[in-house]
Amino acid sequence: MSLVLSEAVPLRGSKLRVASRREVFVIDKGFKPKKQIISLWGLGKRKTHVMTTQTLGIEQNLYDYLLSVSLREPEILTQLRQETAQHPVGRMQIAPEQGQFLALLVQLLRAKKTLEVGVFTGYSSLVVALALPSDGKVVACDVSEEFTTIARRYWQQAGVADKIQLHIAPALETLDRLLATGEAETFDFAFIDADKSNYDAYYERSLQLVRSGGLIAIDNVLWSGRVADPQVQDNRTKRIRAFNQKLHQDQRVSLSLVAIADGLTLALKK
Ligand SMILES: C[S@@+](CC[C@H](N)C(=O)[O-])C[C@H]1O[C@@H](n2cnc3c(N)ncnc32)[C@H](O)[C@@H]1O
Repeated sequence: MSLVLSEAVPLRGSKLRVASRREVFVIDKGFKPKKQIISLWGLGKRKTHVMTTQTLGIEQNLYDYLLSVSLREPEILTQLRQETAQHPVGRMQIAPEQGQFLALLVQLLRAKKTLEVGVFTGYSSLVVALALPSDGKVVACDVSEEFTTIARRYWQQAGVADKIQLHIAPALETLDRLLATGEAETFDFAFIDADKSNYDAYYERSLQLVRSGGLIAIDNVLWSGRVADPQVQDNRTKRIRAFNQKLHQDQRVSLSLVAIADGLTLALKK
């Protein structure tokens, strides 16, 4: 895992521990990750998270067949997926066929430097890190010490921890810092999979951070089908609809909405 020292503050009173001398976590000034997680993922809200860990709208036997003839999941990812499935909010993890698709995109792009907004227990960051060359790098953003402790354990086990730079802070702050420190147009690939209320802001910043010809992948754009149900009018669903409509018109990118897992928009920067 890489070192990130800028604006770090001591982790006094935090459960977060430095697992090796190569491992440092960035905590923004005044930011208390534990509190944020409670408000974001508190028990009362769990039921409203309707993400899916497999492709929507496809019958189970066909889905099983799809996996049986295509999934090439390394053992370490299978283990992570099994452990995450036991987690109370394990449904937030991406689907395995989607992970393999992300890996293929990263290889297709010959990506070296990638961004991830929303790490959770680390499946997508691990799948991307494994697909990168040995000098590749993932800049990973999350607010949760608890979730990313699991991620870090798997990154270490898989031998890719050196490739992953974890920023524990609200992702908007991390992305703004990357822009302020001259990293615009330096990323080949970005994967957006965090809080839906900030999707547009993550997209706009990612668009500045990726190079021309770089790709932004945005998860959960079909939102378990709720985006297409006029009866559903909650704020998150409305925001995802507005985001999808905006991207449809956005001439700065070439676009495809892929009906894999919970819907994955691909935006290729022109
Ligand atoms: C859907 S999960 C990510 C799943 C992950 N990509 C995977 O493959 O398993 C969303 C993650 O976003 C994080 N998150 C929520 N709000 C955030 C914020 N404002 N900044 C950064 N991360 C945030 C959560 O802690 C959670 O780990």
